[in-house]
Amino acid sequence: MDQLELKKIAARAALKYVKPDTIVGVGSGSTVNCFIEALGEMAGKIKGAVAASKHSEELLRQQGIDVFSANDVSSLDVYIDGADEITPQGYMIKGGGAALTREKIVSSLAKKFICIVDASKQVNVLGSTFALPVEVIPMARSYVARQLVALGGSPEYREGVVTDNGNVILDVYNFKILEPLKMEQTINNIAGVVTNGIFAQRYANVTIVGTPEGAKVIE
Ligand code: A5P
Repeated sequence: MDQLELKKIAARAALKYVKPDTIVGVGSGSTVNCFIEALGEMAGKIKGAVAASKHSEELLRQQGIDVFSANDVSSLDVYIDGADEITPQGYMIKGGGAALTREKIVSSLAKKFICIVDASKQVNVLGSTFALPVEVIPMARSYVARQLVALGGSPEYREGVVTDNGNVILDVYNFKILEPLKMEQTINNIAGVVTNGIFAQRYANVTIVGTPEGAKVIE
């Protein structure tokens, strides 16, 4: 079974967490694209969605789902998104698609974060397989890069990428994150950092893993 099929299995299983007459938080990425396609079946039953990227917004509208701004809602029941890495505790690295800041904002509004992944995303220690994305105000790029080196990482500028917020991304390689909560705060305290892709403060409450035998749910 290929990876896309596994993503679809996880995405479809997330539908049961979406209640009628609610507004659902929707992330971004290829697994979420599968989720949005499945969510189309509930188009007339839910009130709408708040999306974490312009691309997800477009896909939701194509499915006939109304899109609200994050400023229009005081809270969301659930937020559904993928991850680049996830630990057994539900700590994640996100931002492979450069949408980390909006993902952090929308997921912070939600009571529950449901993370949909295939098994390749499961790790014991964050940073094992994926570089940590950090969204940075353009003028602070070199300064922030030096601070990330001082923390032990090897930052690389993601050439040619501008986020939905007009900022740039530094990807931090060779960076094992042993204390996710502490490191999330430390990096966010560097002047010029908008946010980083460690999701520890806002961890996943439920992980749905797509496997050839079906969806495995970890609560
Ligand atoms: C987007 O910025 C990311 O946080 C995605 O949620 C993450 O990269 C997972 O993407 P895929 O579902 O495409 O693997």
